[in-house]
Amino acid sequence: MTISRSRTIDPVVLLARSLFDGHLFRCLFSFKDKKITMSGKKFRLWDLPTRLFHWLLVMTMLAAVVSGQLGGNLMDWHGRIGLLILGLLVFRLVWGVLGSTYACFLQFFPTPSRIRAYLSGEWQGEGHNPLGALSVFVLLGLLTAQVVTGLFANDDITFVGPLFELVNKAMSNRLTSVHQLISNVLIGLVVLHIAAIGFYGHFKKQKLLKPMITGWKEGDAVSASGGNFVALIVALLIAGAAIYGGSGAWLPEPPPPPPAAETPSW
Ligand code: HEM
Repeated sequence: MTISRSRTIDPVVLLARSLFDGHLFRCLFSFKDKKITMSGKKFRLWDLPTRLFHWLLVMTMLAAVVSGQLGGNLMDWHGRIGLLILGLLVFRLVWGVLGSTYACFLQFFPTPSRIRAYLSGEWQGEGHNPLGALSVFVLLGLLTAQVVTGLFANDDITFVGPLFELVNKAMSNRLTSVHQLISNVLIGLVVLHIAAIGFYGHFKKQKLLKPMITGWKEGDAVSASGGNFVALIVALLIAGAAIYGGSGAWLPEPPPPPPAAETPSW
């Protein structure tokens, strides 16, 4: 007699398998990936989530700078845009682990040996070159610091960041100064970033812009793989949670103001 047993698989195990089964390995050791097809002399460089992240970041950064400079009624929008940038950054951080080959941080992490090899003309690879990668990490790090300080900032008039209540006024003032300082550094870095793209296009004949738009790059390299749908959902959920956390919606309602004293009739 045979006894049939129905086995149930824990959904958490299923999710973990789907996310990491082979994927993390590809992310860490993507240069060993042989499973990829090449279409002619083009290969898939940037996946769609990375490109969407980049261009949404460009738009939201512009909107944040304009609304921050104009101030006044636009400060409410400045705050909302800041939360959106927070979500984008957290998404990119998660995508740097779960995303496809060239989006993975470990694939392009600028180690000293990679930078040395690049400077001596010996580096060979696709995606961010070691110097570009360095600027990507500096940009992402400063943007994160910018958004986090903004959550606690105040403009001394009517606007306060959504987590202002969690710090005292003196600390908020200090964080506001850092927020203003970083914004100037960031503007400088973005100008440098765009100039570098122009420099590579004009002098080194490396078309970096087109792959950031279409995802495809000309060449014989291995196409990006990994970064599946489940990974995308996980990254979006974590980004959503970060926006919720940053919005301060979970903070208790402030107590109502004390009732105004009655004005004597005389
Ligand atoms: C607010 C302005 C901008 C910010 C904050 C910004 C930030 C970034 C970041 C963080 C990356 C890394 C992408 C990733 O791995 O996720 C990147 C890459 C890139 N950006 Fe921008 N960017 C800005 C504007 C622009 C503009 C205007 C252009 C077009 C001229 C541009 C062209 C590119 C290109 C081509 C890459 C890929 C570089 C490579 O192949 O190594 N960016 N940018």
